[in-house]
Amino acid sequence: MTAPVRSDPTVVNVALGARSYDIVIGRGVLASLGVRIAALRPSAKAVIVTDDNVARYHLEPAAAALSEAGVAASRVIVPAGEASKSYRVFEQVCEAIIASRIERDDLVIALGGGVIGDLAGFAASVVRRGIDYVQVPTTLLADVDSSVGGKTAIDSAHGKNLVGAFHQPILVLADTALLDTLPEREFRAGYAELVKYGLLGDAAFFAWLEADWRDVFGGAAAREHAIAVACRAKAAIVQRDERETGDRALLNLGHTFGHALEAACGFSDRLLHGEAIAAGMALAFEFSARRQGLIAMADARRAIRHLADVGLPTRLRDIPGPPPSVDQLMDLVAQDKKVRRGMLTFILVRGIGATFIEKGVDPREVRTFLSEKLVER
Ligand SMILES: NC(=O)c1ccc[n+]([C@@H]2O[C@H](COP(=O)([O-])OP(=O)(O)OC[C@H]3O[C@@H](n4cnc5c(N)ncnc54)[C@H](O)[C@@H]3O)[C@@H](O)[C@H]2O)c1
Ligand SMILES: [Zn+2]
Repeated sequence: MTAPVRSDPTVVNVALGARSYDIVIGRGVLASLGVRIAALRPSAKAVIVTDDNVARYHLEPAAAALSEAGVAASRVIVPAGEASKSYRVFEQVCEAIIASRIERDDLVIALGGGVIGDLAGFAASVVRRGIDYVQVPTTLLADVDSSVGGKTAIDSAHGKNLVGAFHQPILVLADTALLDTLPEREFRAGYAELVKYGLLGDAAFFAWLEADWRDVFGGAAAREHAIAVACRAKAAIVQRDERETGDRALLNLGHTFGHALEAACGFSDRLLHGEAIAAGMALAFEFSARRQGLIAMADARRAIRHLADVGLPTRLRDIPGPPPSVDQLMDLVAQDKKVRRGMLTFILVRGIGATFIEKGVDPREVRTFLSEKLVER
């Protein structure tokens, strides 16, 4: 059963001219899916794309919300997990959408976490040269990050997210009750991307999370508030820089170190993306303090302590399994960010909530820093 809507949902608009859309956030808002779609696209049909985990809990309520509003919908269910962001599953999804007689005016509904949002969004961007889609995020990571901003992709043998398109959704419906069924480890990993908005540009939000993070985990109004703050921050950045030619890169705080750790763990269950980003942000803060002298060590420690308090990994020794070598990490760091005239690009910090893009980081500094961290391990 979908929980009843207890209060008016929070609406955040992403203002991108003709590609503008609302993010509707609240407990129980899934029940309004059909009514909202019928209002946006009268007489449109829909295809719901989801994964087998999400289908178990949330497909029937989503389908019911559509049929109650007279929106005809078919379903495509793919296996859960990053492996579904493949050419093979992408082909299956496109073929299934076409087989369900979807036309240019119809739409795709991505019901799931970031994997489903990226996969279904990319399919929507190319089937019949592009049809509309709606994001119904079911993970905290998708609520605060992947469902907003229009980046869609599948993975290549050369790396993650290398084949994709910018394609904005027409609506994001973030029902915070859907997170009640999410495994706690996945919720905690998504929390890393949530706290990122405080660390990268909003010291007051960070301080609020420090005090109230348990309520965000608990699912009270605090969860809705936190997701709304994050979506507003992401919307503001995407409005300034939709295609990531500048500022949008700030959202990559912790991601250069984080991606290197994720890749060193083989993108496995050893280290979820959000966990890697927590460790990556901790490293970015410490690197900014210790090697660059940009931020007081006490402030860096405060940021790292909060990540550790919620149970996220912040040190290399928190990552299970054999540690990577410094050579391996340096190779991965260099792959992640283009090297310009021998220098690396990093998001560095001057304080909690004060980050900037630094394109002139000396790789030797990074190597020395990582070698020290590996020894401390
Ligand atoms: N497009 C973007 O801007 C963007 C941004 C960040 C991340 N991403 C992508 O997002 C993906 C990661 O997303 P994710 O962390 O949401 O992973 P995910 O979609 O794989 O979901 C994590 C796990 O939780 C399960 N699950 C999802 N919702 C559930 C629910 N409500 N109850 C129970 N189980 C549920 C899923 O089946 C899966 O097993 C990566 O592929 C990443 O590249 C994209
Ligand atoms: Zn991320």
